[in-house]
Amino acid sequence: MSKIRACITGVGGYLPDDVLTNFDLEKMVDTNDEWIVSRTGIKQRHILKGENMGTSHMGAKAVLQLLEKTNTKPEEVELLICATVTPDYQFPSCANLICTQAGLNTFGSFDVSAACSGFLYALSTAVAFIESGRYKKIIVVGADKMSAIMDYTDRTTCVLFGDGAGAVMIEPSKDENGIIDFILNSDGTGEKMLFMKGGGSRYPATEETVKNKWHYVFQDGQPVFKFAVTRMADVSAEIMERNNLVGDDIAWLVPHQANKRIIDATARRMNISDEKVMLNIQNYGNTTAGTIPLCLFDYEKQLKKGDNLILASFGGGFTWGSIYLKWAYDPK
Ligand code: UT7
Repeated sequence: MSKIRACITGVGGYLPDDVLTNFDLEKMVDTNDEWIVSRTGIKQRHILKGENMGTSHMGAKAVLQLLEKTNTKPEEVELLICATVTPDYQFPSCANLICTQAGLNTFGSFDVSAACSGFLYALSTAVAFIESGRYKKIIVVGADKMSAIMDYTDRTTCVLFGDGAGAVMIEPSKDENGIIDFILNSDGTGEKMLFMKGGGSRYPATEETVKNKWHYVFQDGQPVFKFAVTRMADVSAEIMERNNLVGDDIAWLVPHQANKRIIDATARRMNISDEKVMLNIQNYGNTTAGTIPLCLFDYEKQLKKGDNLILASFGGGFTWGSIYLKWAYDPK
């Protein structure tokens, strides 16, 4: 029996309406548009506002759009996996809540936690389920409401992150196109360089943890930058080498959007030109698990069947990885 290959058959996306520009941030912290654009490439980010609105709200919106675009009935979907670091609750999972809000009630769903690499981890998991032959329709969501864990008095982090969600449909491929290879890596020695200290089982919420601002993201930017630049470029080059690909073979790099300088370094290492790099960091900032599916969402109309794509990420943990896929459909 020939091997089953998994492929992406549709993309949905959702950005909340409210926009926080660099100029808005100038009024909140000691920063300026010139610093943010030159150091990161970010000009604005979307923020989810409204009472009782969690990450699942954005994930469900992306899923509903995906169902409509792919003409899929809710009962056809067999599994939903959500990558996020900002689930609505510690439990139940964000995936559970997304299913209910999107009218998908009766099948398995679970969250994957791998910070900014979460979408690649979740997608690789879905691929393995499809390749096993057990499932035929899986939705993978990458969604984060980073504004919920941002300290808007800390200029070193609050300018970087935004809110958003993307979702993809994964099915068995009808031809040779689809997800061909993936590499996943992690290194827990990065623990204290990029993390949220409070609210977990080690430091449950107390007056002290709130006072110490442990329920916000902490990042030691420079060392994280150094790791990110080398690891994301290395893992992209590694997946190209082991699949005998050179820069000219690649139609698109789909990088995690944390910093334009990291993205540029990765593209240079892969020997590909700027026009082949998906970029939306200027509009959304770093939406953590949302960045890669939101790139696919924004660029979907430019993707052609058979295009070689490299997806690459680096994030908290540390976690990093890459995926090589051949795009499975022409613009619809
Ligand atoms: O997605 C998960 C993985 N995360 C990443 O990949 C992020 C990796 N790190 C980065 O992207 C960069 O390190 C940052 C964008 C976070 C920071 O850029 P940087 O070029 O590394 O700046 P820096 O931290 O070295 O700071 C340079 C200066 C400092 O001032 P002094 O000490 O030189 O006087 C900072 O205090 O810039 C200052 N600074 C700011 N100034 C204006 C830091 N944040 C700001 C700000 N506005 N928002």
